[in-house]
Amino acid sequence: MDYKVADLSLADYGRKELSLAEHEMPGLMEMRARYGDSKPLAGARIAGSLHMTIQTGVLIETLVALGADVRWATCNIFSTQDHAAAAVVVGPPSSGGSVDNPQGTPVFAWKGETLGEYWDEAEKVFDFKDEAGNLIGPNMLLDDGGDITMLLHKGVEFEKAGAVPGQDSTDNEEYKEVLRVLARSLENNPTHWTNIANSILGVTEETTTGVLRLYDRFKEGSLLFPAINVNDSVTKSKFDNKYGCRHSLIDGINRGTDVMIGGKVAVVCGYGDVGKGSAESLRGQGARVIITEIDPICALQAAMDGYEVKRLESVVETADIFITTTGNFNIIGVEHFKKMKHQAIVGNIGHFDNEIDMAGLAKIPGIVKDEIKPQVHQWIFEDGKKIIVLSEGRLLNLGNATGHPSFVMSNSFTNQVLAQVELYTKTDEYPVGVYVLPKHLDEEVARLHLDALGVELTELTQEQADYLGVPVEGPYKSDHYRY
Ligand code: NAI
Repeated sequence: MDYKVADLSLADYGRKELSLAEHEMPGLMEMRARYGDSKPLAGARIAGSLHMTIQTGVLIETLVALGADVRWATCNIFSTQDHAAAAVVVGPPSSGGSVDNPQGTPVFAWKGETLGEYWDEAEKVFDFKDEAGNLIGPNMLLDDGGDITMLLHKGVEFEKAGAVPGQDSTDNEEYKEVLRVLARSLENNPTHWTNIANSILGVTEETTTGVLRLYDRFKEGSLLFPAINVNDSVTKSKFDNKYGCRHSLIDGINRGTDVMIGGKVAVVCGYGDVGKGSAESLRGQGARVIITEIDPICALQAAMDGYEVKRLESVVETADIFITTTGNFNIIGVEHFKKMKHQAIVGNIGHFDNEIDMAGLAKIPGIVKDEIKPQVHQWIFEDGKKIIVLSEGRLLNLGNATGHPSFVMSNSFTNQVLAQVELYTKTDEYPVGVYVLPKHLDEEVARLHLDALGVELTELTQEQADYLGVPVEGPYKSDHYRY
């Protein structure tokens, strides 16, 4: 079995945390109970790219319990929990695996990868082989942020063009690595990515940013296979993005800085789902929270939730903590850094690191980057002013802490499992396009998480159901209902 993780001897610790997480992930455990015998994913070869955390370990082992073959990389250089990666490689007790003889799932991830390593490992999730050792590739993708979907599409695009652009064609250091990996594969086999793409039945995408990329591709006619947008299941974005960030934002700031948050002024850029959870997270600690927004609806929501809504320029000199949550780019730039207070804390919880202009920060004349500990740096200006940047501008809740807790991820990942089963078993019903799961499945995911919280759900009478015009057993809301 091939794999690349930091330290396999962490597997025992990882396994203990995996079993704690299983208890907190009732949706995924129900998937195992319901489909463990019928194995609807038998024959599925799933290439996965999603933060390699303990919760993701439970997801991977659920996909395997449903019959899938899986290969896995992380979708962020800082987010891997090394003990989770080790435990998944060694395998659950039922696999008979051990540190000396791993029998689990191939994982290619460790905390603190370089960008070059990240893209080398991302490529490896495509290396499914048959028993004779011939490359057969995956037939399903499971993505978070769209990196492996992008790698595959770019590979096909360049193979059609017959060449990969040179690395000097871009200033983007990360994209240079993508071009390097694709140039290498094109040299070895000019139809490598095209062959793989031809066998892909579909992709299930986890997050807002990845979903945006999929709709863009579909609109421009370049999407190669159907996709399920897991993010926009209500039980994903209205829970993970909101309540997950409410938990893990503050966790990341605390572990990174241990600074007293009560009384400080915190600016949250963006008041979408992640922004709402982040603002509540900071307010819960007693911070005075200010929101920036470009959308009048979200700005009005923020105001009516009791937050001040300002432009960044108006508050940049006085605020103590800055958090970006927009999924957009260039939110905090050099001019902002220059005006910030001494020891202002800057972090991002959106998917990519381009919300904060880290390259511009590094180019400020005389500035020095000083590591306090991994993923916590102070940037010292010529005049002695320091700015603290968390996770080098990458999502800090996974870089400085351990991401969202299991219970909320059980909601997200139950959607992922249902989406994989849906695309894999009903391929003919999904022509190329981007879909969300039907509402009855969304309601089912929520239902699976009620007992654990002691929720008593009221049942409609037949008369009430007729009055509302909905079935007694649901779905209860129209597709345009916004929750
Ligand atoms: P969203 O679309 O609901 O919210 C983003 C908000 O930012 C929108 O309201 C938008 O109007 C606002 N915005 C855009 N440009 C802005 C600007 N220049 N200034 C101020 N506000 C601006 O998206 P969602 O679901 O909140 O996701 C945001 C990002 O977080 C995405 O990149 C997503 O992939 C990522 N994400 C990260 C998670 C984590 O654990 N770190 C979890 C879930 C999502």
